[in-house]
Amino acid sequence: MQKITVKASQSYDVIIGSGVLGSAAGYIGDVLRSRRTVIVSDDNVFPIYGTKLKETLEKSGFAVSEFVFPHGDQSKSHEVLLNLYGFLAAQNITRSDSIIALGGGVTGDLAGFAAASYLRGIDYVQIPTSLLAQIDSSVGGKTAVDIPAGKNLVGAFKQPKLVLADTDTLSTLPDVFFDDGMGEAVKYGMIWSEELFDLIAEGNIKDHLEEMIVKCVDIKREVVETDEYDKGLRMILNFGHTLGHAIEKTQNFCGLSHGKAVAVGMYLITSAAEKHGIIKDSISGKLRSCLETNKLPWSVDIPAETLFENSINDKKRFSDDINVIICQTIGKADIVKLPISGYKKLITE
Ligand code: GLY
Repeated sequence: MQKITVKASQSYDVIIGSGVLGSAAGYIGDVLRSRRTVIVSDDNVFPIYGTKLKETLEKSGFAVSEFVFPHGDQSKSHEVLLNLYGFLAAQNITRSDSIIALGGGVTGDLAGFAAASYLRGIDYVQIPTSLLAQIDSSVGGKTAVDIPAGKNLVGAFKQPKLVLADTDTLSTLPDVFFDDGMGEAVKYGMIWSEELFDLIAEGNIKDHLEEMIVKCVDIKREVVETDEYDKGLRMILNFGHTLGHAIEKTQNFCGLSHGKAVAVGMYLITSAAEKHGIIKDSISGKLRSCLETNKLPWSVDIPAETLFENSINDKKRFSDDINVIICQTIGKADIVKLPISGYKKLITE
């Protein structure tokens, strides 16, 4: 079991390891002000882990209620958020009470945004049960819901009080979701650590899961501590995401999953940057082989023009320029500001 302390606007621990959930009540009891909490979880995860967590917390003196919503991306919506606000109000949740987000990225984002906004902010704890949430979304305080105009367009920065990542929960994760999380793991290797990249590229990551999660979270810690509010360095976490989001959007969010779209986005931007001489090292071959080894895609049947069009209204765009994240070499990312015309050339020529 390992502990990483994130020193952001609010300091908190991320506890990572096998069996962490069994000690959840102790960890949670140490950081929360009141003994009243609401577990927010979906109908896949709550029956597996929620019932037990609730019992454990109640045995430790917590008054616990649960808000369980239908699983799936479509639940990261203002409708479900409004239902959650209504539930919190009906339960008389006060400013000193809390929310526990138990589940994957959708749950963490939804519950985190409810915690950021309900009564102008209440405490929350993240208990991520998917690989993607354990290595990325549960740490760093980005919370959001989707609106019809786009994904994650309404959100807030709100750091959790604690993150409990029990690696045992990954054993109940279907392979497709595990592979999806690996897309973000490869990203951490590409942007920050050749050592992590090589570990993932070896291909037997399930034997090194805790080590990989700890490395990813530690990278995120350093990035978030440097740039909590996404004004500079944190943008490197979006490596592969601008084209990844464009792929998801072109496929109406019914095609490649997020992590797989990011995998393709990383490869496309890296090979384009190589072709245009923006990077000197030839790294796209190594990236491609690492993606293949980890059952991740690196190409998609969408015209480059379409990808360009669907990527220029990305949140990361500033006026007539766009910030593109490019890895000069494995383990080092740069933020390259390009005029839209230059970006178009990069993607389409
Ligand atoms: N998932 C990207 C970030 O937290 O900034």
